[in-house]
Amino acid sequence: MGLILSEKQDFWGEYWAAGPLTSMVDGFESNYQGELRDGWLQFFSTFSAHSRLLDIGTGNGAIAMIAAEYSRAEGLNFELHGADRALIDPQQSLKEKAELVDSITFHSQAAAENLPFADQYFAGVSGQYAFEYTEHEKALAELWRVLQPGGLACFVMHDHASEVLRRGREQLRQIGLIEGLKFYEIVDALGVQIDLINEGQAVAGNETAEKCRHQVNEVAATLSTEAASSFSPESLRFAMGFGGRAMEILGSQGIDAARDQTARGRKELAGARLRYEDLARAAGPVGQSESILAMARKQGFIDLLLEPVNHDGTVLIGQRLTMLRPE
Ligand SMILES: C[S@@+](CC[C@H](N)C(=O)[O-])C[C@H]1O[C@@H](n2cnc3c(N)ncnc32)[C@H](O)[C@@H]1O
Repeated sequence: MGLILSEKQDFWGEYWAAGPLTSMVDGFESNYQGELRDGWLQFFSTFSAHSRLLDIGTGNGAIAMIAAEYSRAEGLNFELHGADRALIDPQQSLKEKAELVDSITFHSQAAAENLPFADQYFAGVSGQYAFEYTEHEKALAELWRVLQPGGLACFVMHDHASEVLRRGREQLRQIGLIEGLKFYEIVDALGVQIDLINEGQAVAGNETAEKCRHQVNEVAATLSTEAASSFSPESLRFAMGFGGRAMEILGSQGIDAARDQTARGRKELAGARLRYEDLARAAGPVGQSESILAMARKQGFIDLLLEPVNHDGTVLIGQRLTMLRPE
C-alpha cells in the first residue's frame, strides 16, 4: 500500500469522488480525444492478448478505459489495473460507465513509488498527466520493478510551455481575484440583509442592505469584465454561477440553503486552487521532461523517446515519454 494521504491533503480524491472522467474538464474537454487518444490507442496496440497493463495516477481511469475499449473491440482480454495515490472509487463515482469500469481493477491509495504488485507483473505501464506528479527517481525504480523485461512504459506529461499549464495559471489568477475581492463573503453579507428584510426585521431598502447590494454589484461587474477578456474564464464563471444561485435560492429556500450554496462554491474553488497549484508544481521547470528521460536512462530503460503531444495539430498539451525495459 502506498503513502496514505489525510483527507485534508487528498484534494484529488475529493475531485474524483464528484465523478469527472478526466482532470481536464474545465473548458478543455476534448483533449482526451484526437491525437492524444490516438497516441494511447497506438500504445495499447503494441500489446498481445492477455497482457497485464497498469495505468498509474489513474484518477477515474480515463486512460485505463481507453485500453478497456480497445481490448474489447479487438478481443484482446487485457488484464487492466489502475492505481492512484489518492482515494479513488470509480465503481462508485462513475456508475454510468459501469460496464467499462468493471473491466478494470482499481487500486486506491497506491502511490507509483510503492506499488502493490509483484515484481515483473506488467507488460506495460501508462500514465496521463501522472508520472510528473511522482517522486521521479523512486517511481522509475518502482516501475522498473513491476515491468517485465521487454515491457513498455508511456507517459504523457505536463510541459512548462503547454496550453494546459497556461490555462492552469490563468485559473490560479482568477481564483486569487475571486478570493481577494471576497466575492462569496459579500454575497453572504447581502443574503443576511435580504433575509432580515424578508423576515420583516428590517425595512426594505435600508442603508446596510443597500451598501451590501452595491458591493455585490461592483464585484460582480469586475468579475464579468475579467471573464469577458479572459481566454479561459472557467473559474470566474463558476464563482458567479454559485453566487447567482445563492441569491435565487435565498428567495425560495431561505438563508441556510443560500449559505450552503456559497459554502460549496468556496470549497470547490479552494479544491481547484490546490489542483492547479499541484499541476504547476508537477509541470516543473523548463527542461524537466529531458531530465526525467536522463533519469530513466540511468535506471536502465532503453529506446527512450520524448516527443511533443499536440491538440488539433498545433496546441502543445504535453510531452510523451516512451521507454522499454530491456530483455
Ligand atoms: C492530473 S491527475 C490525472 C489523472 C488521470 N490520469 C487523468 O488523466 O484523468 C493526476 C493524478 O495523479 C495522482 N498522483 C499524484 N501523485 C501520485 C503518486 N505519487 N503516485 C500515484 N498517483 C499520484 C493524483 O492523485 C491524481 O489523481
